[in-house]
Amino acid sequence: MLLTEYRNHVLDLPNRIVMSPMTRLRSLPDGSPTADVADYYAQRATAGLIITEGIWPHSTGQSEAWVPGLQTPAHVRAWRRVTEAVHTRDGRVFAQLMHGGRKGHPLARIDGSWPAGPSAVLDDDRVHLIDGGTADPINPNALDHTDIAAIVRQHAMAAINAVAAGFDGVEIHGANSYLVHQFLADNTNLRDDEYGGSIGNRMRLPLALVDAVTDAIGSRRTAIRLSPGNPQFAMIENDPAPLYRALVAELDRRDLAYLHLADNDRYPALSDLRPRWHGTLIANIGENRAPTAAEGARRALSDGHADLVSFGRSFIANPDLVHRLRHDLPLAPIREETLYGRTAEGYTDYPSWAAGALAR
Ligand SMILES: Cc1cc2nc3c(=O)[nH]c(=O)nc-3n(C[C@H](O)[C@H](O)[C@H](O)COP(=O)(O)O)c2cc1C
Repeated sequence: MLLTEYRNHVLDLPNRIVMSPMTRLRSLPDGSPTADVADYYAQRATAGLIITEGIWPHSTGQSEAWVPGLQTPAHVRAWRRVTEAVHTRDGRVFAQLMHGGRKGHPLARIDGSWPAGPSAVLDDDRVHLIDGGTADPINPNALDHTDIAAIVRQHAMAAINAVAAGFDGVEIHGANSYLVHQFLADNTNLRDDEYGGSIGNRMRLPLALVDAVTDAIGSRRTAIRLSPGNPQFAMIENDPAPLYRALVAELDRRDLAYLHLADNDRYPALSDLRPRWHGTLIANIGENRAPTAAEGARRALSDGHADLVSFGRSFIANPDLVHRLRHDLPLAPIREETLYGRTAEGYTDYPSWAAGALAR
């Protein structure tokens, strides 16, 4: 089933294997992806769908140094080389828009700006800096209403830039502790205005972003990723079910390209939310677990929990993952130390099965 095609009124994919978004810190200091980035995605173009690493819509949302952007004409030109490389190989690629919210550091950003999230609550993750080092997180500012309106506009602009760069669509990063997740979670959103407190208020910014991107490029090119109740990344969601049921019910009305859901051991997001979502559902089953492999992915499809399955780490180490899954070939392990290496090593040098056979 993983290898069967998937077709609906939005997507036309040769298989159900999706490359999950993964930050690799291989861009230029200005946020432009390099020729290596184009090679990396082109090597993986047999995926049913590629979702890029997180990309900042605006420099004030840059979470770390070397993360790419989609704000300037230079970014659009550089991403166009990436999308052309993927399309030339008959692939399809969505851009993930990733706003860091409270994540970030003036020494990690091209504009030197201070990070700001829903509330002034400290992150717990170290930040990669432009000078190559890392730093402790710093106390973020709380976003005011003007900032929030700007962020909504910036997402719409970045979506327009994504289409200009040749992307097939845009996935809003609503998972894993970034801006949208910070508005949804209990410990990062302490606001007492219309963006905090009740479920309706906490969903307000996530839905405003979806609607702004939809207005800019159309609902069928707009998607969102969520990780309901994910206990990682210092996020606390005490009662995820009512919040995410309400959010998914709202999203379900919007005819989006897809919903990308990360499951976890604390809240069975896939089984709880699948019946409430009538569009395409991409499951990610590897958060907080071993890298996604064939067996779990096949089960997610046969259980009816998803239409497509995203693979993260397995795609890093296996550019020809689709071929390997089709022929039940062993998967190569990732080299952890080169995940964020900033060079081609551990990036574009993982061999395909056929090339590896020469060395074996
Ligand atoms: C190096 C690395 C970078 C990641 N960066 C992102 C990211 O930019 N955006 C995102 O939504 N998830 C990101 N993730 C999470 C993956 O998309 C995926 O959900 C996770 O690795 C679990 O799936 P897997 O078991 O198939 O690897 C990242 C994961 C890894 C390993």
